[in-house]
Amino acid sequence: MAKTIYFINGPNLNLLGTREPEIYGSSTLKDIEDRCRAIGARLGLTVVFFQSNHEGAIIDRLHEAINTAQGVVINAAAYTHTSVAIHDALRAYKGYKIELHISNPHLRESFRHVSFVSPVVDAVVAGLGIHGYELVLDVMASELQ
Ligand code: DQA
Repeated sequence: MAKTIYFINGPNLNLLGTREPEIYGSSTLKDIEDRCRAIGARLGLTVVFFQSNHEGAIIDRLHEAINTAQGVVINAAAYTHTSVAIHDALRAYKGYKIELHISNPHLRESFRHVSFVSPVVDAVVAGLGIHGYELVLDVMASELQ
């Protein structure tokens, strides 16, 4: 049976393509989703994309994932650096989970150097641009087989 992977994207990632393209590139979130869906299909993975600018909506999706997704990839965006609530929701999710960032937050402002997500995930991918989204699918396929 196909395994389901949730890609959960936090605030301002709906603006990808026009938001600081020198940092985040020119692809839209829809472009990334289309590529991940195609790669996922080849790997036998069902890819579900979600984006919200609201912390509670992200937490609701993580709760939903407990019963519906075998893996979660989370780019919590700015909430990475602030959200105890997302940290707690990730603790409750027992499937394979990967923290993802397009940029490398450690090369940026000091307030981005702290992650409330990193201590409660299996792996962290950062600084690979949008390729990170594609590459984690290979990892998911091998971890979930
Ligand atoms: C980000 C990095 C965060 O610091 C920032 O707030 C984002 C995007 C990234 O993908 O590089 O919105 O998570």
